[in-house]
Amino acid sequence: MPLANLLIERTGATARVTINRPEKLNALDHATIGELQHAFEALSGDGSIRAIVLHGAGEKAFVAGADIGEIRAQTPTEAERFSWAGQQLMRSIEQSPKPVIAAINGYALGGGFELALACHIRLAASTAQVGLPEIKLGLLPGFGGTQRLARLVGRGPALSLMLSGDPIGADQAERLGLLERVDESQDVVDTAMQRATRLARAAPLAVRAILEAVDRGLDMPLDAALAHESSRFGLLCASDDAREGTAAFLEKRAAEFRGQ
Ligand code: COA
Repeated sequence: MPLANLLIERTGATARVTINRPEKLNALDHATIGELQHAFEALSGDGSIRAIVLHGAGEKAFVAGADIGEIRAQTPTEAERFSWAGQQLMRSIEQSPKPVIAAINGYALGGGFELALACHIRLAASTAQVGLPEIKLGLLPGFGGTQRLARLVGRGPALSLMLSGDPIGADQAERLGLLERVDESQDVVDTAMQRATRLARAAPLAVRAILEAVDRGLDMPLDAALAHESSRFGLLCASDDAREGTAAFLEKRAAEFRGQ
């Protein structure tokens, strides 16, 4: 599939996905959502890729939201489908067996913040601004933001952000536990790529099991989630990687994981 709004670059076992509509502050229109869906499905199933970085082109924005021009032209049925397509994309990212790191440079607003919330790790430049301004448009966050933000920071802070619609800076967002602020002396995308390279060296079956245990476990009663955790612990113990990791510790050497 030819990509009009995305750039995908592979380095070793990492992939860097760039949303490339800087003239519209990387706003998510229907086409970009479709391309992202396709890209994440392909990367999730690509055995040579172990970690993914997602960011927006240009200095100003990660993503400044869903495309407001497109939203305005939609019928209610089309708008519901648009919301559903956005939600499906966020779910694909959240359920990806490869860790996805959002590198937030500038604005991550509305659908852009919802996109970052679906990623497993959020790193932000000190100048980043994040928020859910949909209320100012007479809308609600429709790509899962009402649910993910409340699950991440709790009902009170989430409602406060959504009902004001005002963005907050990286410092405040870090205090809320929303993201990790990267020091001004460091480039946020470079830092995210370094983090991805490190994650790509980790035991892939363990990475996948941790992502799955957290994602599925949060929607289960605690006892069921703990049983799921134990069953995955048992399966991992039988893996070559766990044998290698524990042997490497005892032999005081670096482990080499093969994903088996
Ligand atoms: N959808 C569509 N286009 C968008 C957009 C969005 N969410 N966000 C920015 N753009 C476009 C602008 O319309 C403008 O296009 P133009 O040059 O053709 O007029 C271009 O991107 C640059 O944005 P601009 O508003 O001129 O930049 P700014 O620096 O003055 O302001 C923001 C930056 C992020 C504060 C402002 O663009 C904004 O508020 N965007 C909308 C945020 C939002 O409500 N998101 C939730 C959507 S549901």
